[in-house]
Amino acid sequence: MIAESLIQIIYIISAILFTLSIKWMSEVKTSRRGNFSAAIGMILAVIATILAVGTNHYELTIVAVVIGGIFGAAMAMKMPMTAIPQRTAISHAFGALAAALVGAAEFFYNTPSIDTFTMSILSIEVILGFLTFTGSIVAFLKLQELISGRPIIYPARKTISFLVFGGALLSAILLIINPGNQTLFLIMGALSLVFGVILVIAIGGADMPTVIAILNSFAGLSAAGLGFVLNNKLLIVAGAIDGSSGLILAILMCKAMNRSFTNVLFGGFGNIQKSKAGKNAVERNIKSMVAEEAAPLLSYAKSVIIIPGYGMAVAQAQHASKDLMDSLEEKGVKVNFAIHPVAGRMPGHMNVLLAEADVPYEKLKEMDEINSDFKHTDVVIVVGANDIVNPAATHNRASPIYGMPILKAYEAKMIIMIKRSPGGLGFSGIDNELFWHKNTTMVYGDAKEVINKLVQNIKEN
Ligand code: TAP
Repeated sequence: MIAESLIQIIYIISAILFTLSIKWMSEVKTSRRGNFSAAIGMILAVIATILAVGTNHYELTIVAVVIGGIFGAAMAMKMPMTAIPQRTAISHAFGALAAALVGAAEFFYNTPSIDTFTMSILSIEVILGFLTFTGSIVAFLKLQELISGRPIIYPARKTISFLVFGGALLSAILLIINPGNQTLFLIMGALSLVFGVILVIAIGGADMPTVIAILNSFAGLSAAGLGFVLNNKLLIVAGAIDGSSGLILAILMCKAMNRSFTNVLFGGFGNIQKSKAGKNAVERNIKSMVAEEAAPLLSYAKSVIIIPGYGMAVAQAQHASKDLMDSLEEKGVKVNFAIHPVAGRMPGHMNVLLAEADVPYEKLKEMDEINSDFKHTDVVIVVGANDIVNPAATHNRASPIYGMPILKAYEAKMIIMIKRSPGGLGFSGIDNELFWHKNTTMVYGDAKEVINKLVQNIKEN
């Protein structure tokens, strides 16, 4: 009796910690605390579960915790920041598989006595769990470039998807009517596994972070469903938090890219021929200079806005960017960073990197806050960003990024773009007219090397 109340109290403390962690993680300055409180909440949840299981299969639980802990710690320490989206995908895959397998075990263990309500929840939970598992594995393979990131489109794709998903739903309905049919349960599981693959295989690599947020939401809903089946309140709370936060994140990402959910899931975005840089740099009159020429332009500016993008993450140029900010501020230049909501490859990508480099939070300006400042800014320096500053999004209806809100770098008096080559394209694979804009000059090279040279020159002069 005491043990049961103790378990419930620990569950409540875990639920509070999970809820607080979401609140704290929504702001950069409290995000570490958020991460820590989620970890403590999870440790408590595991302890309470071990207490609940008791000495029955006690050793199996310990073995599972040790194996999971070793893999988790190794992934956290070894994986680079740029691989966080695929790391998240693989975590969801196994979380969802666990929920689906526990649900399946519940079904087969209790088949004769299972009631209609439990069967309804179990069916939804198992469908979501299995499709999230295979969908997340495909997302991982695409992001890790183990398979092509391009959408794989084939004839009658939508009909096949509809039939497979419809088949899984029909099996679920028949199971609710007749919960004893184990073959039907296996068919439902198999169709869900297939649906996860065909859903995600048809989506381009650029949309994978959004897909992962949606799958995150599915995994959370699956866990919450399992919580109802097992009568585990913590699983219901944690699953609901996971499900709703994943959904909100996916909605925010779609909004920032001006895309709808259905367009992300069924649009086959990214299935475009990469522009072969059409005209070359000379024909397009793309101007370039070296870092030594760019440094004085920055030193003599009154105001500078730095726009970081995916290339900053690849070059790990966040510390160099902070040095650039410091060296310019020493010369009396006003410096801010403009952060686009989908810069890089994951939500908050730029914020995380720049926070790691100790750039003060108040220097990181959100798109809506800073967009009106560009026209009064002397120099904008674009550090490995491309799609998020592409003016085609504002006027070219044929462009795949048309309608996506962008940082209005093109309005500045001068734009310096750092990238490695004139032909290197952004994630959407399209040309960027900002390259040959009258106010733009390119500085070619790896972002970290170029910025280090800029800093050195600014300090020397
Ligand atoms: P991108 O458009 O992907 O452009 C990155 C640029 O960085 C390229 O032009 C590349 O040119 C340059 N680059 C790469 N490595 C570099 C290095 N070492 N040094 C200097 N430059 C380097 O990046 P973005 O502007 O940040 O846009 C993000 C894209 O990802 C958007 O299309 C967005 O919709 C998509 N996306 C983002 C998210 C999230 S949540 N962030 C989610 C889904 C999709 P070179 O090859 O010439 O160097």
